[in-house]
Amino acid sequence: MTPVLEVRNLRKTFGGIVAVDDVSFNVNDGEILGIIGPNGSGKSTLFNCILGQLQPSAGEVFLHGKAVTRTRPCDLNRLGVSRTFQLLQIFPQLTVRENLILAGQEHQGTMLSRLFGRRDAGLTGAANQMIEFFRLGHLADEKAGGLSYGQQKLLDAAMAFMAGPRLVLLDEPAGGVNLTMLQSLRERLRAINAEQGATFVVIEHNMEFVMALCTRIVVLAEGRIIAEGDPADVRRNPKVIEAYLGH
Ligand SMILES: Nc1ncnc2c1ncn2[C@@H]1O[C@H](COP(=O)(O)OP(=O)(O)O)[C@@H](O)[C@H]1O
Ligand SMILES: [Mg+2]
Repeated sequence: MTPVLEVRNLRKTFGGIVAVDDVSFNVNDGEILGIIGPNGSGKSTLFNCILGQLQPSAGEVFLHGKAVTRTRPCDLNRLGVSRTFQLLQIFPQLTVRENLILAGQEHQGTMLSRLFGRRDAGLTGAANQMIEFFRLGHLADEKAGGLSYGQQKLLDAAMAFMAGPRLVLLDEPAGGVNLTMLQSLRERLRAINAEQGATFVVIEHNMEFVMALCTRIVVLAEGRIIAEGDPADVRRNPKVIEAYLGH
């Protein structure tokens, strides 16, 4: 079966720094792939190159077998790819529901159709469903800026799912989130994966979260893949232990 995402020999340099160094991997349909690695190992840069936010220095990216290297983020959205950011991209002055509607609009149509379309672009229903799914009902009309950090992360994840994407890349969704929120986030991601068949790639620094969520894990250190396998294998791989202890 053609992988949903194929990354081939991807490389990104910043001046003299090699942030991503000849990275290749596949993501299969319905999979939850984890990408872990110490700080500065190139995880976010890898995502940004895949998603067209950064131009890779070399290498290729394929979506369902079709080359999409250097495709703009908005065009990737239209192809069913969505993402969350390590630093939150919510609008603090808008309510939870308004943030979700805005996220849905971002994936929808041209600027003109957004300007002349219905004010909510028919997205209130979808936003309400997402609110229910992520159990944010009691917060729907609260300003996003007033939410706890964990609740904001949950909203950020919900926003990534507004357009019903087939592939979602999540950059450190668990970062700074407390234990209760973590469980809730993990459970919701699992449910979306199971119920909608969405494929995930999750960057995460929190080993426990990744081990519990992902079916397969790729480990980066200094821009290179040093290990790949199921969570149990990766956990006891000496190279992985060394990479983490060395930092
Ligand atoms: N825009 C940039 N300009 C220069 N160096 C960068 C830039 N972005 C990332 N880097 C460097 O690339 C390396 C990988 O960073 P990053 O991808 O953010 O790692 P991670 O997400 O794994 O913490 C680091 O050495 C970082 O300093
Ligand atoms: Mg990062």
